[in-house]
Amino acid sequence: MAERPYIVGNWKMFGTRAMLSEARAIDRAAQRYMKVEVAVAPPYTLIHAVHREAEQIGVGAQDCHPGAEGPHTGDINAAMVADAGAKFVIVGHSERRQDHGETNELINAKIDSAIEAGLRVILCCGESLETRDAGDAEAFVLGQIKSALGSFEDPAERLTIAYEPIWAIGTGRTATSADIEAMHKAIRGLLDETYGPDASADVRILYGGSVKPGNAKEILSLPEVGGALVGGASLSAESFLGIVVAASETEDA
Ligand code: PGA
Repeated sequence: MAERPYIVGNWKMFGTRAMLSEARAIDRAAQRYMKVEVAVAPPYTLIHAVHREAEQIGVGAQDCHPGAEGPHTGDINAAMVADAGAKFVIVGHSERRQDHGETNELINAKIDSAIEAGLRVILCCGESLETRDAGDAEAFVLGQIKSALGSFEDPAERLTIAYEPIWAIGTGRTATSADIEAMHKAIRGLLDETYGPDASADVRILYGGSVKPGNAKEILSLPEVGGALVGGASLSAESFLGIVVAASETEDA
């Protein structure tokens, strides 16, 4: 893999200012693992505060509205999160797709607005258990990526994909190594085909879904796994750093 392993904590709807001490601990420890790129996506309310704490780690948002500023009560757009200190935004997380009915078309508009605001993008994809059991997982996931990316042209430095099977998120279940490897290879094939192998090589494909210190090394050592998107285990510095250490011990680091 061309790039450093990328370990991203997705705090979801967890965290008040009391979590800033965890962010500080993650940041200070990450300085000892420079071969790993470490980032967290706190809730909107903490982006600026975490950004101020962070000397080493990247800070991002978990979502953004696709539009310019306007009368949209309760929404936050890409320029606003960039102004607060975010350097990237997660889009298309399955919890957004499920809880807010987000479509690939909307996610595509979010990607465009994020790029316009100078942000990097982590595009999430992943199938339900029903889809996997029906044997349609690969076609479904590649379809999600194709339509969410639309005519997105310049992946280098800007795009990361996160494959997160829905049934593995927050459940303690992870996909088998063979399933992860097969899906990541299929995603790489799509990126090669779309952007050409040189540009595609700059796009890391993260795995997400119950990644923990105990399973991280095995997952992160798989071909085409360029890092992890971590939910539950990112909420304490101790467990999140356990994953960072595992990433630093993989061959590509
Ligand atoms: P999890 O969440 O690590 O708690 O399974 C991953 C995610 O949803 O990004």
